[in-house]
Amino acid sequence: MSAPYIQLIDHEHPLGPDHIPPDLVEPAIPFCAPPGDPKRLLRARAAHAAEDLFSRAQQSGLCLCGVSGYRPYARQAELYQQSTSGYVAPPGQSEHQSGLALDVSCPELKFELEPSFAETEEGLFLKRYGPMYGFIIRYPKGKEKITGYAWEPWHIRYVTKTLALYLSLTDLTLEEYHAL
Ligand code: DAL
Ligand code: ZN
Repeated sequence: MSAPYIQLIDHEHPLGPDHIPPDLVEPAIPFCAPPGDPKRLLRARAAHAAEDLFSRAQQSGLCLCGVSGYRPYARQAELYQQSTSGYVAPPGQSEHQSGLALDVSCPELKFELEPSFAETEEGLFLKRYGPMYGFIIRYPKGKEKITGYAWEPWHIRYVTKTLALYLSLTDLTLEEYHAL
């Protein structure tokens, strides 16, 4: 069943405050947050895909590091209230609540989330190899008006391998795919 994995979550398609994904697990990948922090959780299929992607990066001599995965509705509301950056989605409108999104950084950027991540070897790897493992760069440069979000080269979303490869080959966002 791929339906939950390809679900559109954005300003027009929010999740309810009570939505908690099933099967959240901690992937065995390097994380900035300490063990037991809910940020380290992802849905099982996304977690296994992230393990494979991160291990491929490691084999290439790269160091991908997870910064933020699952985020409950209430935590998103807190972050939204505190944020001045414009990068934080309103509660219910964040893919992090689905357990299918992961923010990624690397030592070169001191594990910060910033646009220059796109130019690091790790950022280039994520864009190129993510789709082979089912992940897309969800908020690409140049598609801000379509996604409703600023460019975020660090935010990957699990959508299944089939759809991720399709979207990367066609250069479509998840919004454009759902509108086909
Ligand atoms: N930074 C993304 C849009 C989020 O808060 O989900
Ligand atoms: Zn994110």
